[in-house]
Amino acid sequence: MNRTTVKSALAATSPAEKIQVCGWVRTRRDAKTFSFIELNDGSCQKNLQIIVDENCHGSERVKEALTGTAIGVVGELVASQGKGQTWEVHATNFEIIGSAPDTFPLQKKGHSVEFLREIPHLRARTNRFGAMFRVRSRLAFAVHNFFQGRGFSYVHTPLITMSDCEGAGELFRVTTLPLDNPPRTPEGAIDYARDFFARQAFLTVSGQLEAETLACALGNVYTFGPTFRAENSHTSRHASEFWMIEPEMAFCDLSGDIDVAEAFVKHLIADVMQNCPDEIEFFDKFVSRGLRDRLRHVLEKPFVRISYTEAVAILKASGEKFEFPVEWGESLQSEHERFLTEKHFGSPVAVYDYPKVAKPFYMRQNDDGRTVAAADLLVPGIGEIIGGSQREERLECLLAAMHEHGLSEKDYAWYVDLRRFGSVPHAGFGLGFERMLMFVTGEGNIRDVIPFPRTPA
Ligand code: 4AD
Ligand code: MG
Repeated sequence: MNRTTVKSALAATSPAEKIQVCGWVRTRRDAKTFSFIELNDGSCQKNLQIIVDENCHGSERVKEALTGTAIGVVGELVASQGKGQTWEVHATNFEIIGSAPDTFPLQKKGHSVEFLREIPHLRARTNRFGAMFRVRSRLAFAVHNFFQGRGFSYVHTPLITMSDCEGAGELFRVTTLPLDNPPRTPEGAIDYARDFFARQAFLTVSGQLEAETLACALGNVYTFGPTFRAENSHTSRHASEFWMIEPEMAFCDLSGDIDVAEAFVKHLIADVMQNCPDEIEFFDKFVSRGLRDRLRHVLEKPFVRISYTEAVAILKASGEKFEFPVEWGESLQSEHERFLTEKHFGSPVAVYDYPKVAKPFYMRQNDDGRTVAAADLLVPGIGEIIGGSQREERLECLLAAMHEHGLSEKDYAWYVDLRRFGSVPHAGFGLGFERMLMFVTGEGNIRDVIPFPRTPA
């Protein structure tokens, strides 16, 4: 007999004489001649109520069905008389599939997220994490829907790379050299010529540079994959391993780039609200009050767009006491970003045209000579969720920027080639998938939106 999921059982439009459901016991209440079991199988937010009475085959073992026990039930799906559910199952056959003693850590209610972080292998069985990982799945699907619906090609960029795209030096090294006794050059340096790839290699911080080459062949492309950063940031928004979506578009400038970013973020929110209503309701009720209204508000209004120079003027005139001073030319700190998006505008804000000093080599230089065509999207509760730019497509300008950043033309010869052969204006951005999940669920810590978080020690 085929297993019916709790989700489809609860969505039934008519009773069913015989169905089979399997799952894990959330709670059990015993009356004199029968027991109520709340069964969850992870297919949806809700539980299915099972009634096991004395006539049910196997019912003599029902008292072994402690919280966490895996059970299988065959029975009749009938309209429920009780409150809170439409359908319930009257069991005719009850079976313990895998028992769970009372040492199972997830007894009833009320565990802190900090405690649950210590048991990542079990926490997906709670309401909160079950909801999160279903939303995560749906959000990934929505990413593909958005781009596939617009004719973008999904491209796979390498995870092992030889280049530091963002130039921040936050790379995890990939090597097979013995750590305790690496081969040395005559000068005494580590001899990477004898490493696995005969040169230094790293885990990627971004697939952008490779995506650019594919955009300059296929037109519109996007990547969606894992990204690694050895940045020693102990915050609630930084992970060492996270997923990033990076669209890259040929024949596109910065304002077209921001248009796509805005449409993309709105598409993701609308999709999850429509397809995960029970999960969003759960987060609204138990994790972040008012979540649904805030998300609706984001969908309704156009995002604010201001230049970095305007942003600095607003921050300076704000009278707000910031920990870091606001000075033209300095990076915007998280406190500045959050002031703009949360207090000043109360809406997502795209800040564009940043000073070139603090930005990577590939961004297109503006005519003022001191800013580049970069844009960050800032959202309430999180700050930066997207970073993007128009790329430098002019050969001479790119070579000059590489020189300023101390990069060798030889190492990036393939990247420079794009500017030699049929170079076109192009632009793209990166959306942090975990930050987007935090935004749509109201969950405050990146450790709670990915099944097995990797963060610095
Ligand atoms: O702003 P970033 O560093 O931009 C890039 O990597 C560009 N190459 C993207 C592009 O233009 N194709 O990173 C993009 C986004 C950030 O806005 C943030 O949402 C997320 O990636 N991100 C992180 N998320 C979690 N943990 C970290 N340590 C992150 N670092 C960046
Ligand atoms: Mg950034």
